[in-house]
Amino acid sequence: HGTSRINESGHLEIGGCDTVQLANQYGTPLYIVDEQLIRQKMRAFVGAFEKTGLPFQVGYASKAFSTLAMCRIVDEEGLLLDVVSDGELYTALHAGFPAERIYFHGNNKSPFEIEYALDAGIRLFVADNFIELEMLQVLAEQKGKKANVILRVSPGVEAHTHAYIQTGQEDSKFGFDLSSGQAHQAALQAYHASHLNLEGFHCHIGSQIFETEAFRLAIDKMARLAKECYEQYGIQTRILNVGGGFGIRYEENETPRPVEQYVQTIASAVTRAFQRLPQIPEIWIEPGRSIVGEAGTTLYTIGTVKEVIGVRKYVAVDGGMTDNLRPALYQARYEAMLANRAAEEADETVSIAGKCCESGDMLIWDIELPRVTQGDLLAVSCTGAYNYSMANNYNRIRRPAVVFVQNGEADLVVERETLQDIISQDRIPKRLLRKEQ
Ligand code: LLP
Repeated sequence: HGTSRINESGHLEIGGCDTVQLANQYGTPLYIVDEQLIRQKMRAFVGAFEKTGLPFQVGYASKAFSTLAMCRIVDEEGLLLDVVSDGELYTALHAGFPAERIYFHGNNKSPFEIEYALDAGIRLFVADNFIELEMLQVLAEQKGKKANVILRVSPGVEAHTHAYIQTGQEDSKFGFDLSSGQAHQAALQAYHASHLNLEGFHCHIGSQIFETEAFRLAIDKMARLAKECYEQYGIQTRILNVGGGFGIRYEENETPRPVEQYVQTIASAVTRAFQRLPQIPEIWIEPGRSIVGEAGTTLYTIGTVKEVIGVRKYVAVDGGMTDNLRPALYQARYEAMLANRAAEEADETVSIAGKCCESGDMLIWDIELPRVTQGDLLAVSCTGAYNYSMANNYNRIRRPAVVFVQNGEADLVVERETLQDIISQDRIPKRLLRKEQ
C-alpha cells in the first residue's frame, strides 16, 4: 500500500522510513501512518467529485482516527470534519481546525456537547432524534443563535461488506425512521422551529461497503423524502449527506470499488433522483476508513512462541486487542509480514497472539511467515482506521505511540503512554491511604 517497499537491507520501508529504525527509535508496538497516502485518498475523493461538476463537500469522519496532527492534515486538505463527541470537537478546535468546517454527529449528544458546539460556532448539527431537536431549539434560543441542522434519517437500506438488505422499518438506534413518517414529521418540526435552520438530510448505510448499488438505493429513498417535504411543506433540501462506509482492501483477495466509482454512482443517482426538484443539493460524503485505513501499519516485536505439537504455533506480539480491537470485536482479518526480514520467503503457518489475558486476544489466525524468532518485527497492515481510535488500557497496558512518516522523515504525533499515565486519574480515598502516604 502507498509508499511502502522493501529496501536494500531487506527491511519494510514506509514513507521513506526504515521500520526497523522506527522500532529502535520509538519502541513497539508502534502505529506508523503514511501521511502521503492519507492526502492521496482525500484528493481522490475531491478530484472525483470535481469531475462530476456537481456541488459537493467531502468530510472526514474523526472517529476512524483523530489526533491533533490528523486534524491539521484534514484542514490543509480543505475537508469538512465530522465529530461525534466533545473529545473529538476539543481535539479539532485545539488543532486550530476552523469551527465553520466542523459538524456534529451522534445519537445522544449531551446538553454540554450541544452548548460547547454552539459556542464554538460549528457548521451544523446532524440531528438524530426528537429530543435533540428540542434541546437544539432551546439551547440555541438561550444563546440567541440559530443552529443549522440536517436530519439523520434511517432509510431502511443496510449495507454490509458484500451485500445490502432493504427493510421497511429500520431497527436502528440512529436517526429518524423513514417508513413510519418520523423523518417527515422531524423535517416539519425543524423547519418551523424559530432557532433552527433546516438545511437537508443525512443517511449512513453502513461501513466497509463494497457495492455501489446500496448507495443508489438509499439516495432514491432520500430523494423521495426530499420531494415529499418540498411538495407538502415547501421545504428545500440544500444538503444531502450520504455518509461514509466506502470499503477498503484489508486482504489481497478483497475487491472494493475504486473511489471514483463510488463517487460517480452517488453523483449520477443524485442527479437523476433530484431532477424534478428545484435544485440539486450539495452532496456530502464523510468517509473515515477509506481515508486512513490503508495508511496505517502496526509494528510489533515478537516475544514468545508456543507450539501445540501437531496443532498450531502461537506467536505472541507485544500488543493485541488493546491496540487493535477489531479481530476480537468483529472477527476482522489482517495481513502481516516480518518487517526486519521482509524479502524472505514464507515457510511456516503460525497464528499471531496478543499479550492480553484472554484467549480471544488473537490478531491473526493461520498466516504464512518466514520462521520467526523472538525479537523479529511483525508489521500488520491496514490498521489506520479504528485501531488507535479504539485502543484501550485493558490489563493496564499502555497505548502505543503514533508516528507520521513522509519523505523519509518520521514525526511523533502521539507519545507512548507512560506507566505514570496509567494511574494518573486514580485517587485513593483517605481511609485507604497508608500512614506513610
Ligand atoms: N458517518 C457516520 C454517521 C458513521 O456512523 C460512520 C461510521 C462514518 C461516517 C464513517 O464510516 P467509514 O467510512 O469509516 O466506514 N468500529 C468499526 C466501524 C464503525 C463505524 C461507525 N460509523 C470498525 O472498526 O469496523
